[in-house]
Amino acid sequence: MTTNQSEKKEIVTEEGITIYSYGEKITKELNVFYNPVMKINRDISLLFIKAYFTTQNQKKIKFCDPMTASGIRELRFLKTIPEIFEKITMGDISGEAIENIKNNFENNKISLKNCELAQNDAVNTISKQFYDFIEIDPFGSPVPFLDIAIQRIKHNGILSATATDTAALCGTYPKRTLRKYGMRVQKLLCYEEIGLRNLIAHCQIQAAKYDKILIPQVTFSYEHFYKVFFKVQDSKSIATENIKDLRYIEYDKPLQKITLNKYENENTVIGKTYAGLLQNKDQLQEMINNLHLIEDKKKIEKLLHKLNDEGEEIGYFNLHKIEKENNISSNMKFVDIIKELQNKGFNASFPHCGKLCIKTNATSNDILDVLKLSVNTK
Ligand SMILES: C[S@@+](CC[C@H](N)C(=O)[O-])C[C@H]1O[C@@H](n2cnc3c(N)ncnc32)[C@H](O)[C@@H]1O
Repeated sequence: MTTNQSEKKEIVTEEGITIYSYGEKITKELNVFYNPVMKINRDISLLFIKAYFTTQNQKKIKFCDPMTASGIRELRFLKTIPEIFEKITMGDISGEAIENIKNNFENNKISLKNCELAQNDAVNTISKQFYDFIEIDPFGSPVPFLDIAIQRIKHNGILSATATDTAALCGTYPKRTLRKYGMRVQKLLCYEEIGLRNLIAHCQIQAAKYDKILIPQVTFSYEHFYKVFFKVQDSKSIATENIKDLRYIEYDKPLQKITLNKYENENTVIGKTYAGLLQNKDQLQEMINNLHLIEDKKKIEKLLHKLNDEGEEIGYFNLHKIEKENNISSNMKFVDIIKELQNKGFNASFPHCGKLCIKTNATSNDILDVLKLSVNTK
């Protein structure tokens, strides 16, 4: 990404697309919003769409991004994977954003021929028709847009939800979580993943009202945001089962032990939350195969491999906390700890989120035994 200052506007280039961006600081008060950190969010949507709709063998798709901002996402799609789209619907509540999108298309010599673009509230933009893919990329919580988006996605279509209110989802503000997401929450040591699971559970509960199921395909926590791609299907019976599969969590903090319960009890700290698989590994592999579509791919490549290599256990162990709890300081490298746990017959892997953590089906006492194999002596 490169930038040149020109009066108040900045010219920004991302993956060969040049757009105008306003202001220097990333705030939601910007007239037209562009966040370079979210390049990875756009990279992953592009790779997801290419992989999912190519393997589905379906005809061209109807795509909707009701909070388009600068249009950078759609410009990149139309430059790199134009063959996928029948129609792209864009919108934004800001009239200035709409003018900017038009200019950005013109400057990049990309036609708006198969696009719809109007200043509108996202709920109105979504409600007009049915789509194969809806991208919900708001400031903060996706909650106000979920209800209508779920209703307007076709069978086997995709809902992509980004949330930047991670603090509410992961337990920093339990009252806000109860209010916005209707769930009880506490901040656990594996809070990044738990927040992601809480977002999934909330979306699934919303979908069940409409006899729809949301099956997580690719989900992750990255810096300040969560993102989940759901496959949406119509099914009354499975929707009921999915809701029944949501679980309440009990947590033993010293042992970092998560217990899943079907029913709430006096020890419940979180719930109901999603306890199923976070990734569809076939889909991830297809996305990895398509990485050549991204020029500046270092970050997205690293993320996709992390997601693909991550184990399926719920949560992860913070090794520094285990050391602190047991008053030891280990010399072992993370890779060696993982190898040693695997040698003992456990699953062990790096979580995609959570620094200095390990995902495993071993207990914290099993991990402690490994840490003790090589300790610092003062
Ligand atoms: C996070 S930005 C979107 C970024 C964009 N998707 C991208 O990849 O660069 C959110 C955008 O939503 C717009 N917005 C906020 N509330 C809205 C609403 N209720 N309806 C439609 N647009 C809205 C803002 O003007 C802003 O441009």
